[in-house]
Amino acid sequence: MPAKVVVVGSINMDLVTRAPRLPRGGETLIGESFATVHGGKGANQAVAAARLGAQVSMVGCVGSDAYGEELRGALLAEQIDCQAVSIVEGSSGVALIVVDDNSQNAIVIVAGANGALTSEVIDRFDSVLQAADVMICQQEVPDATVGYALARGRALGKIVILNPAPASRPLPPDWYASIDYLIPNESEAAALSGLPVDSLETAETAATRLIGMGASKVIITLGAQGLLFANGKNFEHFPAPTVKAVDTTAAGDTFVGGFAAALAAGESEAEAIRFGQIAAALSVTRAGAQPSIPTLSDVQAFKAP
Ligand code: RIB
Repeated sequence: MPAKVVVVGSINMDLVTRAPRLPRGGETLIGESFATVHGGKGANQAVAAARLGAQVSMVGCVGSDAYGEELRGALLAEQIDCQAVSIVEGSSGVALIVVDDNSQNAIVIVAGANGALTSEVIDRFDSVLQAADVMICQQEVPDATVGYALARGRALGKIVILNPAPASRPLPPDWYASIDYLIPNESEAAALSGLPVDSLETAETAATRLIGMGASKVIITLGAQGLLFANGKNFEHFPAPTVKAVDTTAAGDTFVGGFAAALAAGESEAEAIRFGQIAAALSVTRAGAQPSIPTLSDVQAFKAP
């Protein structure tokens, strides 16, 4: 039986422009290209887990517009169970993304239908949560829903992962008791801990603060510097595979989905982390969110340069 992952979260259409650099306030730049790309942190993580070997269910909402139908269809095409993807009246979630020549990005999201993912919807699809081994949440849907889903995942005895993205402030303290793995990037770890995070050393300090706040295990992703895994007072640095970056959009999502899929399949934490890192490294060599996510065979064929 394949490992089962349920993702509770956002589904967006990404409106992506490439430009030589990110615009400053009040500035107009001439862009190089434009594309609509399937995205949303929740959907990206679901696609990653599915391409990387898990049986995946998505719990989320899309709008009644053309994007909604297309986004749901894209998830179905990945063999993702969409019985809990509701179509609600109005616009789908969108993300306005600029990617620069250094492969960095800036993103503005508009929640749209993602805002309709309420705790009542979670209750309606409780059987979908019950069937999973691992549950993943992010923060592009209402906070009340995230807190509710985390608590339900914990009550059902699932392995619970929170990717606190995007994050602008500390988490509600009562969430920590429901989370097995907290997986922020540098800026999210800084927002959650109130400490600057820009190196392995500062990540250790922030992870210590987060564990003091109640986190169980923390994985701070550090881009090209790899990641820090903190478990109590133990810290381990996992360097990142070296690749030529084209677009870092959804690299974090690919890591989370790959890590969850491997963990659900019974891999050790260290193996699941390395597996997720290879998947994420491969994703940055390709443009876009979901189009950049590798398959299991891509990861198995990866040879470090
Ligand atoms: O993590 C990348 C994702 O963030 C994009 O696909 C975009 O939709 C935003 O949610």
